[in-house]
Amino acid sequence: MCGIVGYIGHRDAFPIVIKGLQRLEYRGYDSAGIALYDGNKINLSKTKGKVEDLKNKAKEISLEGSIGIGHTRWATHGVPNDVNSHPHYSNSGNLVIIHNGIIENYEAIKQELTKRGYVFKSDTDTEVLVNLIEEVKKTEDVKLGKAVQIALNQVVGAYAIAVFDVEKPDEIVVAKLGSPLAIGIGDNEFFIASDASPFIEFTNNAVYLEDEEMAIIRLGKEIKLRKIKDDSVAYPRILELQMNLEEIEKGGYDHFMLKEIYEQPRAIKDTYRGRLLADQGLVKMSGIEQNMEKFINANRIIIVACGTSWHAGLVAEYIFEDLARIPVEVEYASEFRYRNPVITDKDVLIAISQSGETADTLAAIKLAKEKGAFVFGVCNVVGSSIARETDAGAYTHAGPEIGVASTKAFTTQITVLTLIALRLAKAKGEFSETKYREYLTELETIPSKVEKSLESNALIEIIADVYKDSTNCLYLGRGYNFPVALEGALKLKEISYIHAEGYPAAEMKHGPIALIDEHMPVFVIATKKGHYEKVVSNIQEIKSRKGKIIAIVTEGDEQVRDLADHVIEVPETLESLTPLLTTIPLQLLSYHIAVMRGCNVDQPRNLAKSVTVE
Ligand code: F6R
Repeated sequence: MCGIVGYIGHRDAFPIVIKGLQRLEYRGYDSAGIALYDGNKINLSKTKGKVEDLKNKAKEISLEGSIGIGHTRWATHGVPNDVNSHPHYSNSGNLVIIHNGIIENYEAIKQELTKRGYVFKSDTDTEVLVNLIEEVKKTEDVKLGKAVQIALNQVVGAYAIAVFDVEKPDEIVVAKLGSPLAIGIGDNEFFIASDASPFIEFTNNAVYLEDEEMAIIRLGKEIKLRKIKDDSVAYPRILELQMNLEEIEKGGYDHFMLKEIYEQPRAIKDTYRGRLLADQGLVKMSGIEQNMEKFINANRIIIVACGTSWHAGLVAEYIFEDLARIPVEVEYASEFRYRNPVITDKDVLIAISQSGETADTLAAIKLAKEKGAFVFGVCNVVGSSIARETDAGAYTHAGPEIGVASTKAFTTQITVLTLIALRLAKAKGEFSETKYREYLTELETIPSKVEKSLESNALIEIIADVYKDSTNCLYLGRGYNFPVALEGALKLKEISYIHAEGYPAAEMKHGPIALIDEHMPVFVIATKKGHYEKVVSNIQEIKSRKGKIIAIVTEGDEQVRDLADHVIEVPETLESLTPLLTTIPLQLLSYHIAVMRGCNVDQPRNLAKSVTVE
């Protein structure tokens, strides 16, 4: 969480840093700040609020200078206010720092520095770190790079930092452990950022720091990489970026979330392109082919993830067990890592993560690797920490997801996991050739069926208007659509702040039914395949208690139409593929309700896109 941006070169730093922060606002947006070096001194401005607020406030300082660092914050230590915002000065005023992460032992360091006369204005761990660097620089009589290195060896925690020193004004020192940091390499200019989006229009060449690496970025010189622990030299691995500017802009939509919902037909196609060869009856995925023995001989597959990715994992549990007949357990990464799980070298762990940076998921991967399991990653962000940490993996190829609420990441994760299950089913001989081909052909029709589902948008807007003032909602689904109910409820609560719960439809009788009265909207997924008659009975139970029923049904359904207050149709497909369609109206419903309630859809309160702290 938190986004960091830096620039050192020949252009004005201010517009580059501000634009970069705006692109990184998905990472945190409760406060923002910037420090610019004008050739003589540092000019600093910071404020509670969004980058737009910072842009206005920064008019009070000189905006000159071609060196600058900036930060957009998701508060961990200290409430979001002007003082706790980054950048932070050291006591002498010579050093400024921006930091994404958490310094866990900051209290102990703070006490020690206080004894030595340091005073602290903020409640942050970051201000402690910059003063520790200053103290090391002074007492050890070393330059900035060395001081940063010594200081980082004394801290426990996670960080991506950039530090500037007025006594060494031709360089910025950066370092990383646990939080991402990319360096864009231009022509006699460098860009620093939490991901490549802030500098994509300036350069396609980037170096991603590994954990425990630091870099000295000096104007007119090549970047120098070092290992923080032992001072050994590391060599910059320059990657050519594939991202383009269009992908990270709104492209005419009011919100990134809406754009990303509408991108799903394309995103799903990109996910299976080159992997699904329906005409040849083949699924080909190099990460699976190379590790086929591990998968088919696995005692079980353990899936770890958080949030929406965990919901995709739940769908995958149904798919893997149903199609490939491999036992699956799905775990919240945060619980798994702390409960001393039984893991053996016969287990395969699949970690699912859009960002590839989620701290709990990363920790779960490390634990499973230590115990000898084979670890496979399903990530969207190329080159992310999880993609690098896993033994093998498959990217979802959804393209950048900027709206904080996950949409296309969910459907593309399910697509990848379906491909894997199909490939394993084939290898294990679980399917007849005819059934296998039927699956592949049907999967290829999903993008056009998602497009068809999106056509209900106008109807969904009308339904959203009816329920926008609700205070509670229930979401029910069975089988493959139970995780979709959970995901529908999560989408609504996170962007509209309406309390919502998802349940397996049959569980309703075991408690939640007590909540149902004429004020309770109940969103029910009641598609033709998969326990249809049983869901219809559940709908009747709701109706007899006067609950309002909004049903997601298969095209042409009459039975539920007669019972429900509203129906939204999706095209017919195979049961295991229905989540790819039924989730679409629920995404749109949440979106419209949130917009009608005046909520900030792309940046809901208290949230951040990648949760790099536990
Ligand atoms: C919900 C949402 C979060 C993420 C969760 C995991 O819309 O976006 O619940 O799904 O924080 O993030 P990743 O997939 O990046 O590991």
